[in-house]
Amino acid sequence: MLISQYIFEQCVMRAGLAPTVHNTQPARWVRDGDALSLFCDTNVGLTVGDPTGRDAALSCGAVLEAMVLALSAHHIAAQVTLTDTDTAPGQGLVAVAHLTLSQGDTDGLHRQLETRFTWRAGFADQPVQLFGWTRDDTRLVFDQPARAWLAERNDFASHEIMQEAAFRRELVDWMRLDPQHPRAGLDGMDRASMHMTNSEAFAAPYVLTNFWPILSLFRQTRKLASEAEATLTSPVIALFYRDEFENSAISGRAYMRLCLEAASLGLAGWPMAALSDCAQTHQETCERFGIPAGQRLVQAIRFGVPTGQAPIRARRPLHETLR
Ligand SMILES: Cc1cc2nc3c(=O)[nH]c(=O)nc-3n(C[C@H](O)[C@H](O)[C@H](O)COP(=O)(O)O)c2cc1C
Repeated sequence: MLISQYIFEQCVMRAGLAPTVHNTQPARWVRDGDALSLFCDTNVGLTVGDPTGRDAALSCGAVLEAMVLALSAHHIAAQVTLTDTDTAPGQGLVAVAHLTLSQGDTDGLHRQLETRFTWRAGFADQPVQLFGWTRDDTRLVFDQPARAWLAERNDFASHEIMQEAAFRRELVDWMRLDPQHPRAGLDGMDRASMHMTNSEAFAAPYVLTNFWPILSLFRQTRKLASEAEATLTSPVIALFYRDEFENSAISGRAYMRLCLEAASLGLAGWPMAALSDCAQTHQETCERFGIPAGQRLVQAIRFGVPTGQAPIRARRPLHETLR
Protein backbone atom coordinates (compact mmCIF):
# COMPACT_ATOMS: atom_id res chain seq x y z
CA MET A 1 0.00 0.00 0.00
CA LEU A 2 1.44 3.36 -1.05
CA ILE A 3 1.14 6.22 1.46
CA SER A 4 1.63 9.91 0.80
CA GLN A 5 4.93 11.59 1.66
CA TYR A 6 2.98 13.83 4.04
CA ILE A 7 1.60 10.90 6.06
CA PHE A 8 4.99 9.20 6.03
CA GLU A 9 6.69 12.30 7.42
CA GLN A 10 3.97 12.88 10.01
CA CYS A 11 4.42 9.30 11.22
CA VAL A 12 8.23 9.59 11.30
CA MET A 13 7.91 12.75 13.43
CA ARG A 14 5.51 11.07 15.85
CA ALA A 15 7.68 7.94 16.03
CA GLY A 16 10.59 10.19 16.94
CA LEU A 17 8.83 11.08 20.19
CA ALA A 18 9.77 7.65 21.57
CA PRO A 19 12.28 7.45 24.43
CA THR A 20 15.87 6.67 23.47
CA VAL A 21 18.95 6.14 25.59
CA HIS A 22 20.56 9.54 26.42
CA ASN A 23 18.15 10.93 23.78
CA THR A 24 20.60 9.76 21.10
CA GLN A 25 17.69 9.09 18.68
CA PRO A 26 19.51 6.46 16.60
CA ALA A 27 16.51 5.57 14.37
CA ARG A 28 16.68 6.47 10.66
CA TRP A 29 13.96 5.83 8.08
CA VAL A 30 14.18 4.95 4.41
CA ARG A 31 11.20 4.83 2.10
CA ASP A 32 11.33 2.83 -1.10
CA GLY A 33 7.95 2.98 -2.81
CA ASP A 34 5.47 1.28 -0.51
CA ALA A 35 8.15 -0.33 1.69
CA LEU A 36 9.64 1.35 4.77
CA SER A 37 12.92 0.40 6.43
CA LEU A 38 14.21 1.30 9.85
CA PHE A 39 17.95 1.66 10.34
CA CYS A 40 20.01 2.22 13.46
CA ASP A 41 22.71 4.87 13.17
CA THR A 42 25.34 3.12 15.25
CA ASN A 43 27.62 6.14 14.88
CA VAL A 44 25.58 7.81 17.65
CA GLY A 45 25.90 4.67 19.80
CA LEU A 46 27.36 4.84 23.29
CA THR A 47 30.74 3.12 23.11
CA VAL A 48 31.12 3.09 26.91
CA GLY A 49 27.53 3.01 28.19
CA ASP A 50 26.21 0.59 25.57
CA PRO A 51 29.13 -1.27 23.96
CA THR A 52 26.95 -4.14 22.68
CA GLY A 53 24.33 -1.81 21.18
CA ARG A 54 21.53 -3.37 23.21
CA ASP A 55 20.17 0.00 24.37
CA ALA A 56 20.41 1.32 20.81
CA ALA A 57 18.37 -1.65 19.55
CA LEU A 58 15.88 -1.21 22.39
CA SER A 59 15.58 2.49 21.51
CA CYS A 60 15.01 1.62 17.84
CA GLY A 61 12.37 -0.92 18.93
CA ALA A 62 10.57 1.81 20.88
CA VAL A 63 10.63 4.07 17.79
CA LEU A 64 9.41 1.15 15.67
CA GLU A 65 6.41 0.55 17.93
CA ALA A 66 5.68 4.27 17.89
CA MET A 67 5.79 4.19 14.07
CA VAL A 68 3.39 1.24 13.95
CA LEU A 69 1.01 3.14 16.26
CA ALA A 70 1.34 6.39 14.29
CA LEU A 71 0.56 4.53 11.04
CA SER A 72 -2.43 2.88 12.71
CA ALA A 73 -3.89 6.33 13.33
CA HIS A 74 -4.22 6.53 9.52
CA HIS A 75 -5.80 3.05 9.33
CA ILE A 76 -2.53 1.63 8.08
CA ALA A 77 -1.29 -1.72 9.37
CA ALA A 78 2.43 -2.49 9.27
CA GLN A 79 3.80 -5.97 8.94
CA VAL A 80 7.22 -5.89 10.56
CA THR A 81 10.20 -8.09 9.68
CA LEU A 82 13.13 -7.71 12.05
CA THR A 83 16.69 -8.24 10.85
CA ASP A 84 18.37 -9.14 14.16
CA THR A 85 21.61 -7.41 13.09
CA ASP A 86 24.27 -6.23 15.47
CA THR A 87 23.79 -2.60 16.58
CA ALA A 88 27.09 -2.19 18.43
CA PRO A 89 28.52 1.35 18.08
CA GLY A 90 30.62 2.52 15.15
CA GLN A 91 29.30 0.51 12.19
CA GLY A 92 27.35 3.26 10.47
CA LEU A 93 23.77 2.53 9.44
CA VAL A 94 22.50 -1.00 10.11
CA ALA A 95 19.07 -2.26 9.11
CA VAL A 96 16.78 -3.09 12.04
CA ALA A 97 13.39 -3.74 10.43
CA HIS A 98 11.43 -3.67 7.19
CA LEU A 99 7.76 -2.72 7.14
CA THR A 100 5.14 -3.58 4.56
CA LEU A 101 1.91 -1.65 4.73
CA SER A 102 -1.73 -2.55 4.23
CA GLN A 103 -5.08 -1.27 5.37
CA GLY A 104 -5.74 -1.74 9.09
CA ASP A 105 -7.37 -0.61 12.31
CA THR A 106 -6.46 2.23 14.63
CA ASP A 107 -4.71 1.36 17.89
CA GLY A 108 -5.90 3.96 20.42
CA LEU A 109 -2.57 3.82 22.25
CA HIS A 110 -1.18 6.14 19.54
CA ARG A 111 -2.88 9.03 21.37
CA GLN A 112 -0.31 8.74 24.16
CA LEU A 113 2.70 9.32 21.89
CA GLU A 114 2.54 13.04 22.65
CA THR A 115 1.68 12.71 26.35
CA ARG A 116 4.51 10.33 27.37
CA PHE A 117 7.70 11.87 28.71
CA THR A 118 10.55 11.25 31.14
CA TRP A 119 10.19 13.04 34.48
CA ARG A 120 13.48 13.31 36.42
CA ALA A 121 12.25 14.77 39.70
CA GLY A 122 9.95 14.02 42.62
CA PHE A 123 6.41 12.77 41.98
CA ALA A 124 3.16 14.10 43.44
CA ASP A 125 2.24 12.86 46.89
CA GLN A 126 -1.03 11.31 45.86
CA PRO A 127 -2.27 7.76 45.36
CA VAL A 128 -2.14 6.56 41.76
CA GLN A 129 -5.12 4.93 40.10
CA LEU A 130 -4.01 1.97 37.99
CA PHE A 131 -7.51 0.64 37.23
CA GLY A 132 -6.22 -2.94 37.36
CA TRP A 133 -3.31 -2.31 34.98
CA THR A 134 -1.01 -5.33 34.75
CA ARG A 135 1.43 -6.74 32.21
CA ASP A 136 2.84 -10.26 31.93
CA ASP A 137 6.36 -8.87 31.51
CA THR A 138 6.28 -6.35 34.37
CA ARG A 139 6.24 -6.55 38.15
CA LEU A 140 4.76 -3.48 39.80
CA VAL A 141 6.33 -2.72 43.18
CA PHE A 142 4.22 -0.66 45.57
CA ASP A 143 5.30 -1.48 49.11
CA GLN A 144 7.53 1.06 50.80
CA PRO A 145 10.32 -1.24 52.08
CA ALA A 146 10.72 -2.79 48.62
CA ARG A 147 10.81 0.64 46.94
CA ALA A 148 13.34 1.85 49.53
CA TRP A 149 15.48 -1.19 48.75
CA LEU A 150 15.30 -0.47 45.00
CA ALA A 151 16.13 3.21 45.61
CA GLU A 152 19.21 2.29 47.62
CA ARG A 153 20.37 -0.38 45.13
CA ASN A 154 19.87 2.04 42.23
CA ASP A 155 22.08 4.61 43.95
CA PHE A 156 24.69 1.94 44.61
CA ALA A 157 24.62 0.79 40.94
CA SER A 158 24.74 4.37 39.58
CA HIS A 159 27.71 5.15 41.76
CA GLU A 160 29.51 2.00 40.65
CA ILE A 161 28.93 2.81 36.99
CA MET A 162 29.89 6.46 37.44
CA GLN A 163 33.28 5.47 38.79
CA GLU A 164 34.38 4.94 35.20
CA ALA A 165 35.75 8.24 33.88
CA ALA A 166 34.94 7.31 30.27
CA PHE A 167 31.28 6.72 31.20
CA ARG A 168 31.06 10.12 32.85
CA ARG A 169 32.72 11.79 29.84
CA GLU A 170 30.26 10.14 27.47
CA LEU A 171 27.34 11.24 29.67
CA VAL A 172 28.62 14.82 29.66
CA ASP A 173 28.99 14.62 25.86
CA TRP A 174 25.24 13.98 25.60
CA MET A 175 24.35 16.82 27.98
CA ARG A 176 23.17 20.09 26.45
CA LEU A 177 23.43 22.20 29.60
CA ASP A 178 24.38 25.39 27.78
CA PRO A 179 21.48 26.67 25.66
CA GLN A 180 24.13 27.82 23.15
CA HIS A 181 25.30 24.22 22.61
CA PRO A 182 25.10 23.54 18.84
CA ARG A 183 22.91 20.44 19.46
CA ALA A 184 20.63 22.07 22.07
CA GLY A 185 17.00 21.32 21.28
CA LEU A 186 17.95 18.56 18.82
CA ASP A 187 19.21 15.64 20.91
CA GLY A 188 20.79 14.81 24.28
CA MET A 189 19.59 16.04 27.65
CA ASP A 190 19.21 19.70 28.58
CA ARG A 191 19.04 21.49 31.91
CA ALA A 192 15.24 21.53 32.05
CA SER A 193 14.88 17.82 31.25
CA MET A 194 17.43 17.01 33.97
CA HIS A 195 15.76 19.38 36.45
CA MET A 196 19.02 21.16 37.22
CA THR A 197 19.34 24.67 38.58
CA ASN A 198 21.56 27.11 36.68
CA SER A 199 24.42 26.61 39.12
CA GLU A 200 24.07 22.79 39.04
CA ALA A 201 24.15 22.92 35.24
CA PHE A 202 27.24 25.13 35.35
CA ALA A 203 29.04 22.84 37.80
CA ALA A 204 27.95 19.43 36.44
CA PRO A 205 30.53 19.02 33.63
CA TYR A 206 33.42 19.98 35.98
CA VAL A 207 32.15 17.76 38.77
CA LEU A 208 31.68 14.81 36.42
CA THR A 209 35.08 15.16 34.78
CA ASN A 210 37.89 17.10 36.52
CA PHE A 211 36.70 17.11 40.14
CA TRP A 212 35.22 13.59 40.44
CA PRO A 213 38.44 11.81 41.55
CA ILE A 214 39.11 14.32 44.33
CA LEU A 215 35.46 14.35 45.45
CA SER A 216 35.55 10.56 45.42
CA LEU A 217 38.63 10.63 47.65
CA PHE A 218 36.63 12.64 50.19
CA ARG A 219 33.62 10.29 49.77
CA GLN A 220 31.42 13.03 48.32
CA THR A 221 30.47 11.33 45.04
CA ARG A 222 27.92 8.89 46.47
CA LYS A 223 25.60 11.65 47.57
CA LEU A 224 26.21 13.54 44.32
CA ALA A 225 24.92 10.54 42.34
CA SER A 226 22.08 9.83 44.75
CA GLU A 227 18.48 9.92 43.53
CA ALA A 228 17.00 8.00 46.47
CA GLU A 229 15.02 10.88 47.93
CA ALA A 230 13.21 11.56 44.66
CA THR A 231 12.94 7.83 43.90
CA LEU A 232 11.00 7.31 47.11
CA THR A 233 8.34 9.79 46.00
CA SER A 234 7.46 7.39 43.18
CA PRO A 235 4.46 5.33 44.34
CA VAL A 236 5.09 2.48 41.93
CA ILE A 237 8.29 1.10 40.46
CA ALA A 238 7.87 -1.13 37.40
CA LEU A 239 10.33 -3.99 36.89
CA PHE A 240 10.17 -4.68 33.15
CA TYR A 241 11.62 -8.06 32.15
CA ARG A 242 11.78 -10.05 28.94
CA ASP A 243 13.22 -13.32 27.67
CA GLU A 244 17.00 -13.07 28.06
CA PHE A 245 17.65 -14.01 24.41
CA GLU A 246 14.93 -11.84 22.89
CA ASN A 247 15.90 -9.45 20.09
CA SER A 248 16.21 -6.10 21.89
CA ALA A 249 14.11 -4.38 19.22
CA ILE A 250 11.19 -6.64 20.25
CA SER A 251 11.84 -5.74 23.91
CA GLY A 252 11.87 -2.09 22.83
CA ARG A 253 8.45 -2.43 21.19
CA ALA A 254 7.02 -3.86 24.42
CA TYR A 255 8.85 -1.17 26.42
CA MET A 256 7.19 1.54 24.35
CA ARG A 257 3.75 0.06 24.99
CA LEU A 258 4.47 -0.13 28.71
CA CYS A 259 5.45 3.57 28.78
CA LEU A 260 2.37 4.55 26.75
CA GLU A 261 0.03 2.50 28.92
CA ALA A 262 1.43 4.29 31.97
CA ALA A 263 0.99 7.63 30.19
CA SER A 264 -2.66 6.77 29.55
CA LEU A 265 -3.02 6.51 33.34
CA GLY A 266 -1.56 10.01 33.75
CA LEU A 267 1.83 8.70 34.86
CA ALA A 268 5.30 9.81 33.81
CA GLY A 269 8.29 7.48 34.01
CA TRP A 270 11.87 7.87 35.17
CA PRO A 271 14.12 4.93 34.21
CA MET A 272 16.68 3.51 36.61
CA ALA A 273 18.94 1.99 33.95
CA ALA A 274 21.83 1.50 36.37
CA LEU A 275 19.91 -1.10 38.36
CA SER A 276 19.69 -3.47 35.39
CA ASP A 277 23.05 -2.49 33.83
CA CYS A 278 25.07 -3.35 36.96
CA ALA A 279 25.49 -7.15 37.05
CA GLN A 280 25.35 -7.31 40.84
CA THR A 281 22.13 -5.31 41.29
CA HIS A 282 20.55 -7.03 38.28
CA GLN A 283 21.02 -10.38 39.98
CA GLU A 284 19.96 -9.12 43.41
CA THR A 285 16.80 -7.54 42.00
CA CYS A 286 15.84 -10.64 40.01
CA GLU A 287 16.31 -12.76 43.13
CA ARG A 288 14.43 -10.47 45.50
CA PHE A 289 11.44 -9.98 43.20
CA GLY A 290 11.33 -13.51 41.79
CA ILE A 291 11.95 -12.56 38.16
CA PRO A 292 11.60 -15.99 36.49
CA ALA A 293 14.71 -17.87 35.35
CA GLY A 294 15.55 -17.22 31.70
CA GLN A 295 14.24 -13.66 31.94
CA ARG A 296 16.32 -10.49 31.98
CA LEU A 297 15.43 -7.36 33.90
CA VAL A 298 15.45 -4.92 31.00
CA GLN A 299 14.74 -1.82 33.04
CA ALA A 300 13.29 -0.61 36.33
CA ILE A 301 11.16 2.51 35.91
CA ARG A 302 9.82 4.86 38.57
CA PHE A 303 6.27 5.92 37.74
CA GLY A 304 4.09 8.59 39.30
CA VAL A 305 2.11 11.74 38.69
CA PRO A 306 4.61 14.46 37.76
CA THR A 307 4.59 17.65 39.84
CA GLY A 308 5.14 19.91 36.83
CA GLN A 309 4.84 20.29 33.09
CA ALA A 310 6.73 18.10 30.64
CA PRO A 311 10.04 19.72 29.69
CA ILE A 312 10.24 20.89 26.07
CA ARG A 313 11.41 17.96 23.95
CA ALA A 314 14.72 17.98 22.15
CA ARG A 315 14.26 16.11 18.86
CA ARG A 316 16.14 15.74 15.59
CA PRO A 317 14.59 17.51 12.61
CA LEU A 318 13.17 15.34 9.81
CA HIS A 319 16.17 15.77 7.53
CA GLU A 320 18.40 14.07 10.14
CA THR A 321 16.00 11.15 10.52
CA LEU A 322 15.21 10.44 6.85
CA ARG A 323 17.75 8.75 4.60
C1 LIG B 1 17.28 2.19 27.12
C2 LIG B 1 16.99 3.49 27.83
C3 LIG B 1 17.62 3.77 29.03
C4 LIG B 1 17.36 4.97 29.70
N1 LIG B 1 17.96 5.20 30.91
C5 LIG B 1 17.69 6.32 31.59
C6 LIG B 1 18.22 6.54 32.90
O1 LIG B 1 18.91 5.69 33.47
N2 LIG B 1 17.91 7.68 33.55
C7 LIG B 1 17.13 8.63 32.98
O2 LIG B 1 16.89 9.65 33.61
N3 LIG B 1 16.59 8.46 31.75
C8 LIG B 1 16.83 7.33 31.05
N4 LIG B 1 16.26 7.11 29.82
C9 LIG B 1 15.33 8.11 29.27
C10 LIG B 1 15.95 8.92 28.12
O3 LIG B 1 17.03 9.69 28.57
C11 LIG B 1 14.83 9.77 27.51
O4 LIG B 1 13.92 8.91 26.88
C12 LIG B 1 15.33 10.78 26.51
O5 LIG B 1 16.14 11.74 27.14
C13 LIG B 1 14.18 11.49 25.78
O6 LIG B 1 13.33 12.15 26.68
P1 LIG B 1 11.77 11.81 26.77
O7 LIG B 1 11.66 10.38 27.26
O8 LIG B 1 11.23 12.78 27.77
O9 LIG B 1 11.16 11.96 25.43
C14 LIG B 1 16.46 5.91 29.14
C15 LIG B 1 15.83 5.62 27.92
C16 LIG B 1 16.06 4.42 27.28
C17 LIG B 1 15.33 4.10 26.01
